[in-house]
Amino acid sequence: MTISDRKRDHLEICIKEDVNSRKQTTLLEDVHLIHNALPELNLEDVSVETEIFGHELSLPLFIDSMTGGTQMSYEINQALASAAEEAHIGIGVGSQRAGLTRPEVAETYRIVRKSAPTTFVFGNLGAAQLVKGLTIAEAKKAVEMIDADALAIHLNPLQEAVQMGGDPQYKGAIARIRELAESLDVPIIVKEVGAGISGDVAKSLEMAGAKAINVSGVGGTSWSGVESIRAKRANNDVTAALGEAFWDWGIPTAVALIDVVRKVKLPVIASGGIRTGLDVAKCIALGASICAMARPFLLAASRKGKEGVLDLIRSVASELKLSMFLTGSPNINSLQSTKFVITGELQEWVKSLA
Ligand SMILES: Cc1cc2nc3c(=O)[nH]c(=O)nc-3n(C[C@H](O)[C@H](O)[C@H](O)COP(=O)(O)O)c2cc1C
Repeated sequence: MTISDRKRDHLEICIKEDVNSRKQTTLLEDVHLIHNALPELNLEDVSVETEIFGHELSLPLFIDSMTGGTQMSYEINQALASAAEEAHIGIGVGSQRAGLTRPEVAETYRIVRKSAPTTFVFGNLGAAQLVKGLTIAEAKKAVEMIDADALAIHLNPLQEAVQMGGDPQYKGAIARIRELAESLDVPIIVKEVGAGISGDVAKSLEMAGAKAINVSGVGGTSWSGVESIRAKRANNDVTAALGEAFWDWGIPTAVALIDVVRKVKLPVIASGGIRTGLDVAKCIALGASICAMARPFLLAASRKGKEGVLDLIRSVASELKLSMFLTGSPNINSLQSTKFVITGELQEWVKSLA
């Protein structure tokens, strides 16, 4: 099975099957913003504009790293990127390993920059591939491939361990990330893929030269779940059971966000189960600079193309604006200091981690 075959399976499973976490939520439901009945503000005056690494965004939102390497991903990337350009939000591509090893599929990634010439675009490579010997020259090629404004490095030890033929090799990963951070001309964003990053891990990444952390916690797409379904289809019952057992493993998104914001001074991106503009507002109140969503954008693009993606962005924008109006927050900076209350399970996590 080639990387492209696997990527096709991933897209198909993420579109057709229910691969969300099951028992564990983001715990954002335990974050309560305080209603302001007298906001001293008009809804139309709320500004959701922001910036990252000097790039302006109309909304604190990224389409998170997803795809590339197949014909289907060319079309999906084109729909996602043209919507990102029109809405002026950030967009990532999926792991570029396939584009590096098979230059004939590089176009499935390049279409993102071609369709989004002015907005913030980030590349993607895996830490496990760095450990296995991916060179600095190859990482630079990945950046050049899409004229990237930043490079995301994904940490996915759970997925690699459950994936048939995966590479669960992380020994030496932090040294390779440091080497990469020292050699690249663009900032490195380190992200998980849905099992979360703790404050301590974020601290070591900050010390290694990462310029932003995307916590990507539990509560959204489960990669253990996706790999379990793939294994089941291949009649590999042992791997399928392993993926089932770890379906909900990891740090819930709200917990990871609070823990990472406490420990590092870098911009923090919240992803993993972000589904509405109210989720975005809560994450920004907790200290995130930007939020990112992956699978909801894939579903929107596969059903209704660019217009579906734009509709989803418009929904998130109007929900975020309303949350800001109702908390009396005229802009993203003031939302970052709005009051909130933490209850329930999230409160227990936060107390235990303090
Ligand atoms: C179809 C699909 C492919 C993905 N591929 C990648 C990838 O290549 N690299 C990566 O860093 N994350 C990848 N992700 C993970 C997402 O960027 C994100 O961290 C995760 O899906 C949680 O967000 P969500 O709950 O909004 O989907 C992928 C997600 C989806 C749905």
